[in-house]
Amino acid sequence: MSQTIHETADYINKKTADFQPEIGIILGTGLGGLVEEIDVAFSLMYPNIPNFPISTLEFHSGKLIFGTLNGKRVVAMQGRLHYYEGYNMQQITFPVRVMKELGIKYLFVSNAAGSLNPDFKKGDLMVIDDHINLQLESPLRGRNDAEMGPRFPDMSEPYNRKLIADALAIAEKDGITCHKGVYVSVTGPNLETRAEYKYLRIIGGDAVGMSTVPEVIVANHMSLPVFAISVLTDEGFPEVLHPFSLEDILETARIAEPKMTKILSQLISRL
Ligand code: HPA
Repeated sequence: MSQTIHETADYINKKTADFQPEIGIILGTGLGGLVEEIDVAFSLMYPNIPNFPISTLEFHSGKLIFGTLNGKRVVAMQGRLHYYEGYNMQQITFPVRVMKELGIKYLFVSNAAGSLNPDFKKGDLMVIDDHINLQLESPLRGRNDAEMGPRFPDMSEPYNRKLIADALAIAEKDGITCHKGVYVSVTGPNLETRAEYKYLRIIGGDAVGMSTVPEVIVANHMSLPVFAISVLTDEGFPEVLHPFSLEDILETARIAEPKMTKILSQLISRL
C-alpha cells in the first residue's frame, strides 16, 4: 500500500513541479463550484494518474485540481469515489492517503445528504460534528501500516472542533442557515425506506448520505484534521416522504452550493 502511495505521489509531484498543497478538498455530488474560486495551476484527470481509481458517475468529472484559493495552496478532488460504485474501502480512501503524502495539513469535505432532523430543511447546510458508520466496513480493516497511523485510531474528535466553531460563526455573520449535526453513512445506492429513515433518526442521525465517512476515518488514522459539511438536498421524514428524484437533488445542491462555497472559502482563508 505505502509503495503505491509513494509511486502515485511521485508521479503527481513530477507533473505539478512539487506544488505541495497545504489543504485537501473533496467535493460532493453537484457541489463542484468551489473549484471556480481556485486559481488553477495544474489539473490531472483521474485515469491518467497511476493507481488512481476512476470515478464512474457521469456527473462526476474526475479531476485532481491544484491551485491557490485565497492565497492557500490546495488540491481538490472534483468527483469522489463511492462504495456503491463497486470500489472497496481502500480504493475509495486511496486519494486521501496520496494527498497526505503530497503534504496536506487539513482535509475539507462536502457532500449532499438527506435530512433526518425535522428542524433541518431541504436547502439548509449542516456542519458535521460527528458520524455513525453504517457502511459497516472500516477502510482500516486488514494489516496496519504503523508508519501511517495506529492500529486502533482514536475517534473522539473526528471533525475538528475549532473549524466547526469558525464555520458556524462565518455562517451566522453572513446570515446563512447552517446547522451542526450527526451524519450517518449508508452504502446506497438505493435510498432509504420510511422505516429506515425513522430508524436512522432514532439512533441519533441528523443527516444521511452515501459518502464521507471512509475518507474521514482514514484522515483520522493519519491525524489529519477534518472539516466536513453537508448540503441537505432532501428530507427523509417518514410521515411525509416523497419519491426520490435525482434531478431535484442536483437542483437543490445547485441552489444551496454558493452558501457552502462562501463558508468553505472564508474558512480556508483563515487557516
Ligand atoms: N439518503 C441517502 N443518501 C442521500 C440522501 C438520502 O436521503 N440524499 C442525498 N444523499
